[in-house]
Amino acid sequence: MSPADVKLASRRKFLQFLAASPLLAASDLAAFAAERPGLLPDPMLWAPRALDKLISNPKEAINVFDFEPVAFKNVPPAHFGYMASGIDDETTLRANREGFQKFVLRQRRLVDVSKVDTSVELFGQKYDSPIVVSPTGGHKGYHPDGESGVARAAKVGNHLQILSTQATTSVEDTTAARGAPIWFQLYATNKFEVASHHVKRAERAGCVAVAVTVDRSGGRNQETLFRLRPTDSRDCNGCHDRTSLQASMKTRAMYQGIDLSGLTNTQSSAMTWDYFKRLRDTTKMKIVIKGILAWEDAVLAADNGIDAIIVSNHGARSEDSGRSTIDALPEIVEAVKGRIPIIVDSGFRRGSDVVKALCIGATAVCVGRPYIWGLGAFGQPGVERVLELLRTETYATMQQVGAPSIKYLVPAMVRRA
Ligand SMILES: Cc1cc2nc3c(=O)[nH]c(=O)nc-3n(C[C@H](O)[C@H](O)[C@H](O)COP(=O)(O)O)c2cc1C
Repeated sequence: MSPADVKLASRRKFLQFLAASPLLAASDLAAFAAERPGLLPDPMLWAPRALDKLISNPKEAINVFDFEPVAFKNVPPAHFGYMASGIDDETTLRANREGFQKFVLRQRRLVDVSKVDTSVELFGQKYDSPIVVSPTGGHKGYHPDGESGVARAAKVGNHLQILSTQATTSVEDTTAARGAPIWFQLYATNKFEVASHHVKRAERAGCVAVAVTVDRSGGRNQETLFRLRPTDSRDCNGCHDRTSLQASMKTRAMYQGIDLSGLTNTQSSAMTWDYFKRLRDTTKMKIVIKGILAWEDAVLAADNGIDAIIVSNHGARSEDSGRSTIDALPEIVEAVKGRIPIIVDSGFRRGSDVVKALCIGATAVCVGRPYIWGLGAFGQPGVERVLELLRTETYATMQQVGAPSIKYLVPAMVRRA
């Protein structure tokens, strides 16, 4: 055998070993290794996550992604599909993650970061973390601990929680479980009386702010949901009354005791800036708009007296534009010029993601799916661990860039890659 043949044979042997290795059994790497032997990943992936080795308790999790396959195993496929789904080709869903690779952090040295203060203030309330619990509907569909379990987990790290209009727990019970005021997210519907009822109830429950979601104005094709739903063998009619929109909403905690005649849409396609004048006369709570993506709308929000905005593409669940929110954030920060707080969400999974957004100019960052993975996997302890991991990574990233507190996270610490 020539030296070249020996090299080839040993390479083939190595690839056979890789392809057979349990380390790679559940990853794309085995297929990759077989098809493109000259192009193995560099650096090599020696410890990829494997779907046949799931964590059995929250403490085993190394990162938030460890919870997702456990949630997939535990949660009914229709509910998991609803949670995981993006729209159409899920280009925005991928863009939300890939967007973070397009920004790099720029570190400062010789700064004392032996103690890092990650606290933020929003509307006069202090939170120990810039990580906010996004409003997501129907928590009891993932685990009986539901919104109260999420609230108790948020309380552990003193996070702000925003409760969805589509919650399976009332604003009063969630606030009690959180032990501090929360925010209420509003889906306006086509009927102002319904929205006004929700808002007044949230205000009575002590909510600090109402976050009005403005990015669900049209239909959507949730292909992941539509492919997973038929694999669910349970009788959905036992829980979901699909005879009419009214009947379906009557089962929701926040719709109890409201006259739903004339309700044709739980979202709102007709909403304009005038809506917010009317809303301002209805409540003393702060008004936040969730779903802003263009700097022109951000400026209009400030001009129209809105108290804060959430830069969001609804976790890639409202359009498939292919644009990430981290890409949209800089133009919005630049245009708003500090007039109102800017919160951002969609695709945040790592402390470094959070820190990049804070450096660009966000005041806080919301997370959605990761805590639902934790909830579906292990209930409240899963949510606690997801939030703990995000806090730990954020703290460590702030140490790595040389920022003893959030005010040190400035635009000079981040660059477009
Ligand atoms: C299962 C699910 C349900 C959601 N329900 C709502 C909702 O009721 N109201 C709302 O404004 N946003 C809702 N969202 C969007 C989230 O508030 C947030 O914008 C999004 O989850 C952030 O993206 P991420 O999941 O990638 O972190 C939902 C998102 C998911 C995944």
